[in-house]
Amino acid sequence: MSPYIGFGLFGVLVAQYVLRVIYRLWFSPLAGFPGPKLAAMTSLYEFYFDYFKKATYCFEIERMHKVYGPIVRINPRELSIADSNFYDQVYVSGNTRRTQGYSQFASGIGFEGTFFLTHTHELHRRRRKPVEPYFSRLGVTRLEPLINKAVEKLIKRFTSFQGTGQIIRLDHAMLAFSGDVIGHVCVENPAELMDEKDFSPAWYDLQHSMIKCIPLFTEFPWVIHLVRHIPSRILLLVDPKAECFNVWKARAEKHIAKLIEEKEQRQLTKLEPAIGGRPTLFRYMVDESGLPEADLTVERLTKEAQILLGAGSVSTARTLHFITFYLLLNPPMRERLEDELRETMVGWPDKQPSWSQLEKLPYLQALIKEGLRHSHGTMHRLPRVSPDEELLYTSARDGKVWKIPAGVSEIRVIVPGTTVLAHVPTGTRDDRPIEIITTTNMRM
Ligand code: HEM
Repeated sequence: MSPYIGFGLFGVLVAQYVLRVIYRLWFSPLAGFPGPKLAAMTSLYEFYFDYFKKATYCFEIERMHKVYGPIVRINPRELSIADSNFYDQVYVSGNTRRTQGYSQFASGIGFEGTFFLTHTHELHRRRRKPVEPYFSRLGVTRLEPLINKAVEKLIKRFTSFQGTGQIIRLDHAMLAFSGDVIGHVCVENPAELMDEKDFSPAWYDLQHSMIKCIPLFTEFPWVIHLVRHIPSRILLLVDPKAECFNVWKARAEKHIAKLIEEKEQRQLTKLEPAIGGRPTLFRYMVDESGLPEADLTVERLTKEAQILLGAGSVSTARTLHFITFYLLLNPPMRERLEDELRETMVGWPDKQPSWSQLEKLPYLQALIKEGLRHSHGTMHRLPRVSPDEELLYTSARDGKVWKIPAGVSEIRVIVPGTTVLAHVPTGTRDDRPIEIITTTNMRM
């Protein structure tokens, strides 16, 4: 290629970038909103905090709110509103108005097409519908025998370490536990993570290294396409953990392909119940959900399985190990919980208490709620787009009314919740970790 063409192409790219920056700063519908100019100009500002400074953009957003007020433009396409009174206007059900997620925050990671990353309101609903009966209150109640079996196994494994002096990573154990539960909900023969030595640290590493890479893939989506073209033996040389990912994907693919093949062979209308009187989630999805053929490809369902397994295990495991950690660290809390549980647990392990019995125990409930509140899984906001209607926000600081335009194509308006910032005052967590639990919801 002649150097002139090279320079020419470079010039076009630079000009395009400059025009985009001019648009973002002066002509975008978000141009009038307060916030740092650099953040409005480029998403690299956010990338810097989330990738190089380890997911700390949420703290930078907190700083911006202190400087610019409750409504801030945090990147070229998103607004953040730090005002819990506005929460109910952002997070609405489909009956109030159409609302959409904003999948760009996880685009580029190779899971496009899953319901989690489907942002169009109607399509998202259609793809999510088959999953709902499994995670409704009734659906989860039906899973109790499965969960009880997994709990028994976890206790057996813990007991087997008793007196050995071996240190067990609680986060690994809980991830293996939650992975096994969700694995059995999804397919008939999942990997049994709790059976693996040391509770499968490779599974833990895989999930967490993927999460850490999200900002990189989101900012530079072409990276994942590049990675896909690298032969797996070379990837394995660079990072042996990549094998775990390949095994995980191949296993999910095999399961889904088998389900589709079996459906074609059987033409059955009635399915064998596998869990709580129901078939496993993916057998139901393939056989009975009524999803159109286009949504039932091996490729899409494999991604769906990977997302469900990841989302359903990492979040739950974090809450569980967080609560367990503080209980172990704080004997009075543990004693109080044991006192409360004593009567309900009579006859255990032969007789397992039901969830409806356990949910009547106030201290246990407070522990779970506090655990959920403080063990936030990702350091990321939960963006929402209002695709049709503009929203009005009245500033809590000076009463100024801000018109948030309805999201259109490139110019989406995203209003992320500020769960972390709204609930945990800076410093509390590090200064008084144990008291967080005892001084808030725990007081009764
Ligand atoms: C401690 C437990 C859990 C926590 C704290 C948690 C947290 C969350 C949060 C904050 C979201 C984002 C929702 C939003 O954008 O509005 C979410 C979405 C999601 N979670 Fe969980 N989750 C938990 C357990 C689970 C389980 C057990 C599953 C099982 C499969 C699961 C699968 C998903 C999926 C698929 C989505 C995307 C939903 C959608 O796009 O409609 N999560 N979760």
